[in-house]
Amino acid sequence: MSGRRRALCLLGCFTCSVAYDEEVGLAMAYLEKAVYCGERRFTEWDVGESVAKAPKVDVKQLRWVASPNTQAAAGVGKMLEPKGCFVAVRGTFGTISSLLDAAFWLTDFEQGVCPGCQVVQGFHLAYLSIKDGLFRALQDFGCQQEPLYLVGHSQGAASLSYFMFDALVKNYTVQHMYALESPRPGNALFGQALRALLGSTDAWRVAHYQDIVVHLPPRGPELFQHALPEIYYEARKGREFKKCGIEDGSCSNRWWPWQLKAEDHDWYADLNPCSCGAKSAEEPQVFERFLREARRFAVPEAMLSTIILIFALCGRHGARCCRGFHQRQALLTQEFDAATQSLGADGQQLWTPLLEKAYAKAHGSYRAISGGEIAEALLDLTGCPTESIDFDEPGFDPQELWERLVDFKAKGFPMGCATAGNPELREVGLCGNHAYSVLDVRELYDQRFIGREFGYGGAQQQQEAGKFWLSGREAA
Ligand SMILES: *[C@@H]1O[C@H](CO)[C@@H](O)[C@H](O)[C@H]1NC(C)=O
Repeated sequence: MSGRRRALCLLGCFTCSVAYDEEVGLAMAYLEKAVYCGERRFTEWDVGESVAKAPKVDVKQLRWVASPNTQAAAGVGKMLEPKGCFVAVRGTFGTISSLLDAAFWLTDFEQGVCPGCQVVQGFHLAYLSIKDGLFRALQDFGCQQEPLYLVGHSQGAASLSYFMFDALVKNYTVQHMYALESPRPGNALFGQALRALLGSTDAWRVAHYQDIVVHLPPRGPELFQHALPEIYYEARKGREFKKCGIEDGSCSNRWWPWQLKAEDHDWYADLNPCSCGAKSAEEPQVFERFLREARRFAVPEAMLSTIILIFALCGRHGARCCRGFHQRQALLTQEFDAATQSLGADGQQLWTPLLEKAYAKAHGSYRAISGGEIAEALLDLTGCPTESIDFDEPGFDPQELWERLVDFKAKGFPMGCATAGNPELREVGLCGNHAYSVLDVRELYDQRFIGREFGYGGAQQQQEAGKFWLSGREAA
């Protein structure tokens, strides 16, 4: 298609379409990308390929609206072609804080105009922190009579649903609304009220393949529901999509929880809407670094999903899960963020405290997961059968154990080992009454070695990069 026809088509789609249109979606995705360039580059419209591929904007009428408290951020601007105003809300799932402390319980929403409506507290707080700024910018740019073009990704897409509701109540005209990879924003009544306000407005929720975020918080008749109909992209790559209902079992809801993945999240029509233009060498988000780190350590994708789902499920019972521990948890998150920043997030076990925190959150507190049997923990985390081997059992055979360990390692089984309380353990650098992870099992120079990782409070003296080797004889 020639550039000219394409431009005309885009313009045509923008002004008259009511059906889902990927060309419109792509133009909107490039507005979303621009927000990921950060405040300075956004306000100077130095936004890489978005300059050419997003709708033409008035570079004098651009505003960055953000809150340092919630890390919510959005770009607002006036568009020249097509004429209108846009609001692009950045997703904040990219930061560890929002993931760890996402408050997934319901809170009242605009009871005056939306009786019985409830929305997800964490997303709503993020929205409230930028709401006034968004409407002030629209007013300053004279957008009351202009068509609005709304786009958001992830948590930003949930915030966008609340924003759209308020904008419609204030009699703004929404031309297009594309919510990319949105979590569930609230209860069924909120969805109904939003759809009633929308009428025939072009508003969609896009979901990609096995993205986990569109399944958060978990759905239920009395609980969380999506608000907008879904456009479902059925494959990891490619642009085949299907038009679906609000909560449609044949679309994104077709997957089991353990099939869901974080890696399908930052996607729209084969481009990443959460990255600034191609030319920028942007720091990856903390969450991406976390994923990269986790992959380096071969943390199974299923386990990553488990971490995220534990958070979500726990959030559903938030009051019970976090009562009394919220302060401590917030503190840990701050410390963790500071630590990852100062370490350049290359701290080798970056995912370990996250998993531990998720696990503690699911069980009510850190105290509830302190101590216990390794086999129970592995069963709980993996759902697979486990085995404990006691070295003091009659008939214990070190040779047989060694062969089995080598076999287990080759099969990728997670392994751990616990020590008894005898003082001579100190001589080989181990603590008594303590649990260790077994990371590796190898035969070197005719000797057998078991690589271990320190658990909490491990013996410091022989530590080398959090890992040390112990001969098989010593271990047994
Ligand atoms: C929006 O329009 C309706 C119908 O014209 C009117 O009743 C209402 O007062 C308007 N609301 C605002 C906030 O201007």
